[in-house]
Amino acid sequence: MDRLLLLHGRIATMRGGRYGLIEDGAIFAEGGRIRWMGPTGSTALPEVAAGERIDAKGALVTPLLVDCHTHLVYAGNRAREYEMRLEGSTYQQISKAGGGIASTMRATRAASDEALSAQTAKRLDALVAEGVGVVEIKSGYGLDVENELRCLRVARGLQDGRPVRIRTTLLGAHALPPEFKGRADEYVDLVCEQMIPQAAMAGLADAVDAFCEGIGFTPGQVRRVFEAARAHGLPVKLHADQLSDLAGAALAAEYGALSADHLEYTGEAGIEAMAKAGTVAVMLPGAFHFLRETRLPPVELLRKRGVPMAIATDSNPGTSPTTSLTLMIHLACSLFGMTPEEALAGATCHGAAALGLDDCGVLGVGKRADFAIWDAEEPAELAYGIGPKRPTLVRHAAQ
Ligand code: NIG
Ligand code: FE
Repeated sequence: MDRLLLLHGRIATMRGGRYGLIEDGAIFAEGGRIRWMGPTGSTALPEVAAGERIDAKGALVTPLLVDCHTHLVYAGNRAREYEMRLEGSTYQQISKAGGGIASTMRATRAASDEALSAQTAKRLDALVAEGVGVVEIKSGYGLDVENELRCLRVARGLQDGRPVRIRTTLLGAHALPPEFKGRADEYVDLVCEQMIPQAAMAGLADAVDAFCEGIGFTPGQVRRVFEAARAHGLPVKLHADQLSDLAGAALAAEYGALSADHLEYTGEAGIEAMAKAGTVAVMLPGAFHFLRETRLPPVELLRKRGVPMAIATDSNPGTSPTTSLTLMIHLACSLFGMTPEEALAGATCHGAAALGLDDCGVLGVGKRADFAIWDAEEPAELAYGIGPKRPTLVRHAAQ
């Protein structure tokens, strides 16, 4: 994209109130960056002789969406476990019996690079088709040094030739692999002493995550993981307080985490700590829905304390088998009571913040010229319909 002029868009810049709307707006971009924005009728609109011209004809224009929490790299599926849960087992029971994350780990380890890459690409392409321009992809189904690094490599490899930016997160501390049964601390040693240093050295990870939970790792073990991440200059994120309150949100905040994710059981102290640290709250309504959870995340308190709320798919085989971020926008409103404006901010600017990115997720001068045009006029239409929504046109700065 060298020069581009978009005219007559209803532009949701996501800066300022009311979606930061510019009515009958125009965007001039050059070299992949926005150089000018304002009303189409403005006398300051640059005269552009050459380049692409797009007439949005009054349609809604938004920044490309950001999916800041996914587990896209895995093999197989867990439909049978879904069935078992509906027949009466709980997620925790299935996990303790060797199913859950461990069953996806077995399928993932057994898959060739090509098979893993092909299965992941399918999911990634579904997100991209919905106007997602940045996707965070976690490892976490390899659970040994070789396979965790392999999953990160597969994730990074998918960027080639696709109009999407991929950020990778090492989630070695996702679950205890069976070969370490009864030796969780030794597995954490492996994560801290080998996985994190090797991923950092190979430049394969942009961040480090962990699962702080009864069926995951204790706060003490997560602390060790975070210390190792810090020693290697990697920011952290945390699966926090999803199934019980282990004060994960406060722990994440203490380490200046980019985000604390899930948060169904987070209490007031955790939210206070997140507000002080500037840690983003990532809401994952797909997992809430799929686990038939009844405990709602503390949206009202997060709102009151001014903690930015992002929304992501959490795309994974066990708790959120979805590749629709626009459906998550809907669910965040219908299930969590977020407003359509909060939800769209969650899937754009706050999603970017949860990844430590400040050049996308909003439309403004100097930002990346990444945007989507929708067959809609009202921004609330992106939250309103139940089901995936596809933009009519997408422009990505890397194209
Ligand atoms: O984000 N909570 C931990 N990780 C995933 C679920 C992983 C799985 O069940 O495969 C999540 O919900
Ligand atoms: Fe997750």
